[in-house]
Amino acid sequence: MYEDIEEILFNEEEISRATDEIAFRINRDYVGKNPVIIGVLKGSFIFLADLVRRLDIDFTVDFIKASSYGDKTRSTGNVDIKYHISADIGNRDVIVVEDILDTGYTLSYITEYLRGFSPHSIRICTLFDKPGRRVVPIKPDYTGFVTDDLFIVGYGLDYNEKYRGMPCVGVPKTQSKKIKE
Ligand code: IMP
Ligand code: MG
Repeated sequence: MYEDIEEILFNEEEISRATDEIAFRINRDYVGKNPVIIGVLKGSFIFLADLVRRLDIDFTVDFIKASSYGDKTRSTGNVDIKYHISADIGNRDVIVVEDILDTGYTLSYITEYLRGFSPHSIRICTLFDKPGRRVVPIKPDYTGFVTDDLFIVGYGLDYNEKYRGMPCVGVPKTQSKKIKE
């Protein structure tokens, strides 16, 4: 089914263990709190679903969608909010959940945008982090895996909308350094 995958980098068990560890930390850090967990569409939807099933705190789930545009292979700082949160995050603790942190343009724009609604706190949770690609200085508070500068797919991450449902994460044969939504 996934014969056009060059190499599997993270299998289901590894992803599950990393998600356990992040959930453990969030459960510990947010005891007695009721954070708004904001998933960045579309890539975070599978990670978010697996993460919240491991939480034993109260929380609200919401979503935001941002597009960064330019050409197909290079990220630019032009980010646009395409789908807005519906929760009132004023004075709430916010956790932004992302699939992968790359140049940082998207998440820095989203966090600045969310700060405009005066939340009590904002933290960033990303399953994958590619710090070597960073253009905007932004650090996640919770990370599953630090990865090399490779384009990866699966577990929500896509290449032209393909592979989102793949339960593991790997490098497609037609690997592109940068395909932006
Ligand atoms: P940033 O603004 O460059 O940090 O871009 C982050 C977004 O780019 C992520 O939310 C993904 O949608 C996409 N992206 C970056 N790297 C990858 C990758 O390796 N695979 C799939 N999508 C990626
Ligand atoms: Mg994304």
